[in-house]
Amino acid sequence: MRETRNRLLSNKTGASTNLLKIIEERRTQIEKSNEKIDSNDLLTKFLTANEKISDDDIRATIMDLLLGGTLTTVNTLSAIVYYLGHNPKVQKRMVQELDDVLGSDRDSSITIDQVTRLEYTDAIFKEASRLFPTIPVNVRTNAEPNEIAGYKFPAKTQFLIDVERIHRSPDYWTDPDTFNPDRWLNKSDTKMYSSYYQFGGGARECPGKKMALAEVKTLIALLYRNYDIELVDKVSPFNYKYDLIKMVQGLEIKIKPRN
Ligand code: HEM
Repeated sequence: MRETRNRLLSNKTGASTNLLKIIEERRTQIEKSNEKIDSNDLLTKFLTANEKISDDDIRATIMDLLLGGTLTTVNTLSAIVYYLGHNPKVQKRMVQELDDVLGSDRDSSITIDQVTRLEYTDAIFKEASRLFPTIPVNVRTNAEPNEIAGYKFPAKTQFLIDVERIHRSPDYWTDPDTFNPDRWLNKSDTKMYSSYYQFGGGARECPGKKMALAEVKTLIALLYRNYDIELVDKVSPFNYKYDLIKMVQGLEIKIKPRN
């Protein structure tokens, strides 16, 4: 853990320096430009905001988005491909939903309204990330001393929340080890919903939650509406490493255009 932390911190310094350079370059470009800047990218939005934001705040925000929003989504996407590969009936039903909601023109762009209507695909996202939470442990520190279940904890104790265990506990889930997206279609099961902790919770809950769902569902739709996808190896266990985030170590697939 300490080794990983040190490696990440040393990479972070390099990435921060590069980001500051990019911010400076873009600022100069904007200042020198005689035309009205109407670019929609995030950096330009920050630099042209009415309220001045310091370069370091811009850097920190972009860094948060890059670190928080890439490995999490890409590994969740891999988990979905893995579970669909093992559950061809679920895959078939999902592809049917994609055809129903997105229509027969497989080259058409996908709108956010359509993505919202992909309810079964949404259930697949939740179910795959329940069984394979890319962030399986969440951390909290208490500001004041606490007593929980008869145990006394001084202030600044670090608590590790075992998300993976909660996600597979028979106290909250029926057949916890079974991949069953249908369980998510019963929206009234509040006990189950409040035991899904993939995006954390409370004041520090992942601010990218909706974006992650939209992003991954769109990627799934783009892939599966156009291609038949199968796993090459349906026998070996899912190959991943846990290094702060669960990182899939390669997932071979057979991919061919759909008829
Ligand atoms: C499947 C994808 C994602 C997963 C599983 C995920 C998961 C998480 C988790 C567990 C936390 C900690 C929450 C807590 O402590 O309660 C978090 C925080 C955060 N996430 Fe995500 N995330 C995902 C996608 C994204 C995306 C797409 C973005 C932004 C583009 C993002 C930005 C952030 C940021 C900035 C934080 C820190 C929030 C804070 O400390 O207040 N995440 N995420």
